[in-house]
Order: sequence, then C-alpha cells, then structure tokens
Amino acid sequence: MLLHNADRWRAVPASRAASLMSTHSAEDVRATPRKPVTLHSLQALHQRGEPVAMLTCYDAVFAQLLDEAGIDALLVGDSLGMLLQGHASTLPVTLDTVAYHTRCVAAKNRTAWLIADLPFGSYQESKAQALRSSALLMQAGANMVKLEGGGWTVEAVQALTERGMPVCAHLGLTPQSVHALGGYRVQGREAAAADALVAQARELAQAGATLLVLELVPAALAERVQRELPGLITIGIGAGPHTAGQVLVLHDMLGITRGRLPRFVHNFLADGGSVEAAVREYMAAVKERRFPPAELSY
Ligand code: KIV
Repeated sequence: MLLHNADRWRAVPASRAASLMSTHSAEDVRATPRKPVTLHSLQALHQRGEPVAMLTCYDAVFAQLLDEAGIDALLVGDSLGMLLQGHASTLPVTLDTVAYHTRCVAAKNRTAWLIADLPFGSYQESKAQALRSSALLMQAGANMVKLEGGGWTVEAVQALTERGMPVCAHLGLTPQSVHALGGYRVQGREAAAADALVAQARELAQAGATLLVLELVPAALAERVQRELPGLITIGIGAGPHTAGQVLVLHDMLGITRGRLPRFVHNFLADGGSVEAAVREYMAAVKERRFPPAELSY
C-alpha cells in the first residue's frame, strides 16, 4: 500500500499516543471535561505554536467519539456528497443537506469547534445569499462557515464577519470548481499561480477570515502563506507539514474510503486497531508534527 512505507512513516502505538498528548488524553478528558473550543482558544493554540487537529464529521456517533477524543475542530464538509451520498463530486450537495448533518453533529458535539461547509450554489449568487445560507448553518449549530475561492468571495467574507459569523476560507484545490480546474490536481505550482494564491489569502484575511483551508498545494507555498500572514490559521490537507493545523476526511483516515486516495492520506485505523485509537494517533501525529511527513507532500 502506497502509504504504508515504514521507512517514511513511523506510527506510535495507540497507548503511547494518548500519553504523548499533554492536553488531549482520553483519561484527562473523562476526568475533567474540557471547555468548549472557541475562536479565541484556537488563536491561542496557534500563537503558542500548537497545531490544530481537525477532522470531517457528518453524524452524531462520530461527533461524540471525536469530541471525547479531544479533537480541536470538526468540519461538516460537503465531501459528504461523495462519502455518504455516493456522488462523483461535491456539486450536488444542497444547503438543506449540510444543515441536516450540522444538526446531527451539533446534537452530540460538546466542545469541538464546529465548522459547516457552504455548499455549491448557496453563496455564489450574491452577498445576501451568502448571509442567508450562513445564518441557516449557524442556526443548525455551526460555529463557523467555510466557503471556497478567493477574489469574488471577499465581499461575502467581510459581510459575514462584520455580522458575527466567523469564516474559514478555502484555497488551492477547491472541489466545487473541479470542472473549471480540470480535475483534482495540485494547485499553485507555477510562480504566477502561487503569487495569486498568496494575494487571495491576504485579501481574505483582511476581510476577516480567521481560518484558511489550503488543499493540494505545494508545501513551500503553504509555508509561504503562513509566514506572510502569521495571524491566519492555515489548515492543510495535502499542503505539507508547515500549516498551523491539519484536516483529513474522516473516512480516508480510517481507511474505509473506496478507490485511489491521494498520497498524503494515511490509514490511522490500520495503526491503531480501533476507531478511538486511530483518532488519538491522528491527533498525536498532528500535534507532534509527525503528520503529514514532508516526503509525502507536494
Ligand atoms: O468537504 C470537505 O471535506 C472539505 C475538506 C477536504 C477540507 O472541504
């Protein structure tokens, strides 16, 4: 298996993984319920250099399990369209569907920061549409909304943040634009494209975005974005080890997604032996910057 190269990746046994985590061991969480994660506590983590560990989540059972494990943030991603609904892309996902899954996750999540994806067609039309759609997701239980793209999204990001709705932006490979991008391919390899991405990230940060997902971009570009915009919390997926945090699709890191996966994905369930251990090992690997290994980046 592509990703199980022992020379490149050294997994830590689940029991040790739990003990390695100063603030997130399962025992600690059970003994002392942690306080809800807030935007301020995420910023504090970032300021003291502790990576943010995030996973996608679409239902109540996993919400409870991931929250109890001490995950920092959950993302109700529109990837649910491919994983739960069997579509070939995220485009068919509707706002009502994301709101439904946000309610499911919010029902059992107690403390993790909860981000919900604005799906395709729910914010492209106008600033007013973005505000309406975001309000629906916040009422469903989200703490923050995520939208894809830069430039044309800046107006909506500013309107949302001015009205008290925190925003996570998303640049690089933006799956809602898969047809325009010509497939799921690495973005920002050429100098002009890299400069454009950094300029978009800057505009989004100035408009009020506090988190930025960087998907499938060269590690050096993700490092540059974080260096040039130190206040922004960059969350990488296929963006190398230098972002402020990492996110993976839950089904991918549990090794249950069918088909070919990108090379940076790792099957943590194969290491851990149980779902709980897999999640703890993922968190430990992110916190200790063992994941993703630089050599599996772009
Ligand atoms: O929908 C999703 O799961 C996402 C992640 C890939 C970041 O946007």
